[in-house]
Formats: sequence, C-alpha cells, structure tokens
Amino acid sequence: MSFPAQDWDALAVDLRQDFHAHPELGFQEVRTAAIVADRLHNAGLEVTTEVATTGVVAVLHGDLPGRTIAWRADMDALPLEEEVDLPFRSTKSGVMHACGHDGHTAVGITLAEVLAQGRDRLCGTVVFIFQPAEEIFQGARAMLATGLLDNFNIEEVYGLHFTSNMPTGRIGVRPGPMWASADGFEIHVQGAGGHGAYPHLTVNPIIAAAQLATGLQSLVAAESDAENTLVMSLGEFQSGTAYNIIPETAKLSGSLRTLDDIARQAIMQRMQDYSEMIAKAHRAQAQLTWSPHACPCLINDPTAAKLVHHCAVESEGEEHVEHVPPSLASDDMSLFLQHRPGCYFKIGAALSGPVRPHHSPKFAMDDLALAVALRVGEKVLLAAVQAKPAH
Ligand code: NI
Repeated sequence: MSFPAQDWDALAVDLRQDFHAHPELGFQEVRTAAIVADRLHNAGLEVTTEVATTGVVAVLHGDLPGRTIAWRADMDALPLEEEVDLPFRSTKSGVMHACGHDGHTAVGITLAEVLAQGRDRLCGTVVFIFQPAEEIFQGARAMLATGLLDNFNIEEVYGLHFTSNMPTGRIGVRPGPMWASADGFEIHVQGAGGHGAYPHLTVNPIIAAAQLATGLQSLVAAESDAENTLVMSLGEFQSGTAYNIIPETAKLSGSLRTLDDIARQAIMQRMQDYSEMIAKAHRAQAQLTWSPHACPCLINDPTAAKLVHHCAVESEGEEHVEHVPPSLASDDMSLFLQHRPGCYFKIGAALSGPVRPHHSPKFAMDDLALAVALRVGEKVLLAAVQAKPAH
C-alpha cells in the first residue's frame, strides 16, 4: 500500500495553532479530546475516550512483534488572559495555552499518524496517552486510577515537554531526578479571640502563626542536605479583621519542592511536628494539611534516559543534546514514572528576543520545535519497542 507524501511538520503546526486558539482548562478538554480521538481513529488506532473524564488512550499495533511502550502528552491550558498578539491567539477569554501543552498534544497526534503509516515495519505496540488536567496535578493520578498501565500492558512510558528556556533545536535530558516534587500545604492555627486590651485572656493565633512563618523557613534550611534541594515558600498569611480584636484563627499556606522522595517524606513529617509544637508553646493549636493533589519527584530511568540521549544525538547531532540540570518546576508525568520506567525530556522552543516564561500571559513558543520533537519522538518510540527491558 502506498500513501501520498505528507508534510507532517506542517500538519503538526496546524494542529498546535488550532489547539492554541481553542484552549481548555483541566478536565474540560472536550474539544481537544474529540480532535485527538477523531484523528487517531482515522489513522486506524484503537481509541478509548472519556478515560478519567476527558483523557484519550489510543493503541497502535505494529505488524511485527515487540514491546508495549506508551507516549504521554498532556492537553490542558491555564487560567490566564493571553497578551501575545498572534494570528492564532486564544479565542477564549481568561484561558491560554501558556505551557506548550498545545504542542504536546499536536506532537502526540502526529507521531501516532506517522507511526501508523509505517505499521507494517513497526515492532510491538505504542499506546498514546492524552491526559487531562496536568496543571492542577490531577490528570495523571486520575488516568492511573483507571488501571491503564496494567490494562494496556504498558512496559515503559516516554514523553517530552517544550521549554521556552532553551533555544529551538536543543534537547535536554538527564537520568535520575529531573523535575521536583510539589506539595501544597495549609496550616490552620486555632487561637481564642478577644479584646485587644486583654491579651492574657486570649490565645492570639497571629503570634503562633508568625513564629511558624519564620520558624518553618529556618527548619527547612537547617534540615537541608546540601545535595538534596529543598525549597519551601509561603504564599499566604491571613488573619484578623480589625486592629483591636484578637482573632480566633490564622491561616498560612505554601508549597514544598524537593528532588528526592526520601528527603521529601522526612521534611513533610518535620514540618507537621514543628507546626503542632510551636503552636502548642503559644497555647494555640495548629493543623498542617497537605494537598491531596501532590506531585512526586520526576525520576528518569537511567537506561531509558540513555536511549533518549542516544536517539536525540543520532537525530539532531551531539552538539544539540544537553545533559540538563534538574528543574524545580514539577510535572505529573512523574506519577507515570513512579509506576513504570521511562524518560521525560525537554525540547527547546525559545523564540528570539526576550524570554517568554511558562505560565505567563506573555508565553510563546517556536513552532519550528515541533519538527525536532517529531524526529526525536519517532526515533525514541521505534527504539524503545525493540530495546531490552529497562528493568
Ligand atoms: Ni507544562
């Protein structure tokens, strides 16, 4: 069978720009998921829709025997008003693709289409996973809860993230920890309110909370092994209504990031104990609650990272492949990699001029990076289905 020649790069760019113009927030990716399902159904894949609300899983069986490898892409946008003047700028007020997930979805679809055309030469099976709600760290967990890794016999998982912090054409990969864990927390301090003239008859929660704000910061610094990054930042401090009223409660919230799951568990426990004890010393009570939407450290399997590095060098040349330092940002791809070996890597997509940071209304990415992603992604999948198991 022969097929008309396709300009895959241009098709991927068209898709990316269309998704960019029609961004959807987490668990609301209805239009995006419908396009994914439609395209991959037409390409001959077995498509399952409405996985964890708006997720799509599409299976491509090669004609030759081999392993089962997954490629994961995320589809969601962010609650931001786009400030970039593009012909394909967001048509939805207050919603914007400001992290490149439009590109991830476009590359996932196009990779599936490219591989589907060569299925007579494809060894094994590729499972394309399009997940919802990465930005709120809920999509991967919800997809995994459906049992998809076992249901589809997935042996390894790969994927990529575009980055506006690296020049277009560069590929960043590293074995081991590559993205940080992210845990949100809230501390509720319970005091006993009263008249500002009679503090001894009250328990002022502001005093306990203020001690906690500075104390927790010192605790994290004091317990940090220099080799294991720990970053704790407070983002909220709320209490009180008037200058002469001692309030009943105070609230603090913040986030914790680490590059090591053992250090993460240890500091989480210390923060909990510390909060309770400091509050107690002030006759108050503190309760620290961790967000259930946590994201563990993203750990690349060394063998899988080597495979990606090798494919990237083969495709783009040694000079374009970087052994990158870990990033303190987080991505819930880490949950897939907690359950299966695999590798998540970066592809540079910086436009010339000033940096356009991710998660900012000025974010913009270079569409030329899509072609790089397609070349490297295809090589990675073709190699992984035939590779020896990582474990
Ligand atoms: Ni992202």
